[in-house]
Amino acid sequence: MPVDVPREIPPRHISLPDDLHASIERALAGTSAKQWLDAAQTLSERYRAPRQADAPPLASGQVQALGYAALIMPATYAQLRGALAATAARIPHWQPTSMLDLGSGPGTALWAATAQWPTLRSLAAWEREPAFIALGRELAQGGTPALRSTHWERIDLAQLPRTSAQRYDLVVLGHVLNELSPELQRTVVQAAWERTDGLLLIIEPGTSAAFPVVRAARDQLLAQAAHTIAPCAHDHPCPLTNDWCHFPQRLIRPAFQRQARGAPSQWEDSKFAYAAMARFPPAEPIWARIIREATSNKAYAEAKTSTRAGITTYRGLKRHKGAFHQVRKLVWGATLAEEPAEPITPIEHERTAEA
Ligand SMILES: C[S@@+](CC[C@H](N)C(=O)[O-])C[C@H]1O[C@@H](n2cnc3c(N)ncnc32)[C@H](O)[C@@H]1O
Repeated sequence: MPVDVPREIPPRHISLPDDLHASIERALAGTSAKQWLDAAQTLSERYRAPRQADAPPLASGQVQALGYAALIMPATYAQLRGALAATAARIPHWQPTSMLDLGSGPGTALWAATAQWPTLRSLAAWEREPAFIALGRELAQGGTPALRSTHWERIDLAQLPRTSAQRYDLVVLGHVLNELSPELQRTVVQAAWERTDGLLLIIEPGTSAAFPVVRAARDQLLAQAAHTIAPCAHDHPCPLTNDWCHFPQRLIRPAFQRQARGAPSQWEDSKFAYAAMARFPPAEPIWARIIREATSNKAYAEAKTSTRAGITTYRGLKRHKGAFHQVRKLVWGATLAEEPAEPITPIEHERTAEA
């Protein structure tokens, strides 16, 4: 067999869990639909516009928090589930019990992480906007005992004390770094790492603008001897040029999100960039991760991968039927345990620089 079958297929379809779905529906029912739909529309425009570092908060106040829960939370939940599943696949024996969600919004990462690791029972959420804290508390009341007992604190990440006695197995910075200035990003990444006992997950939208934020945070953590659990197969700086590393997660849209988007489609592919960095190495090495959808034409199939040795595009020729089908079926986001062998061939290569 020339190429190892991918071992980790990210979950193909994510839906909101029933309890989160019901909690958001209940919260939305307390306000007129016109209000939260208008708020969702405003948020959508703000999130699409270029962001100035000193701009006012993207969302504040009760109605905007509801607009966020209806429109954006389902997508960030799906992205978090995708990133956490890929992370967990590389550390199958890790069972975190405590978690800190920084810039938690309505606690999206708390829901995603407890779904991934039911062992989590001690949860903390730090957030600047009181309306998000209030909504997060309200939503969590419909969740598991761990979610219900989350410790919520109003904290501005710009004013975090440098050190803290308490550390958490899992710390998440979910869609928050790109709302901060580059200087503050570095400070917050450092503060998050100091509070991490096990694993720090950084996740941002899968855009060319947000990817450099994740890359810079990963570089910062590598310089402190952090280990990359996912997505990379190595602990060197990312060698990708003229491209950005991101992954899709299919979300089955809840009705309120379809309404908020004004889009009838039952699903969307929500894209994210991430780095899962730990104080311990992954359980087993991998050779590569597929970083683009495989493509094919009449002559060959190709898949772009990030390998231990660099960025490599592998090709399987149509006349090598098995190789062609294997390359064509490589799933964006999945891993390869070993380097593909002939007749699958590497056709382009950007070497990984030593860290
Ligand atoms: C895009 S939302 C992400 C919320 C949530 N983590 C998620 O993934 O759905 C960004 C969150 O970061 C919070 N935030 C931004 N700057 C902050 C700061 N300086 N201190 C604390 N929270 C902040 C915002 O209030 C907002 O809730």
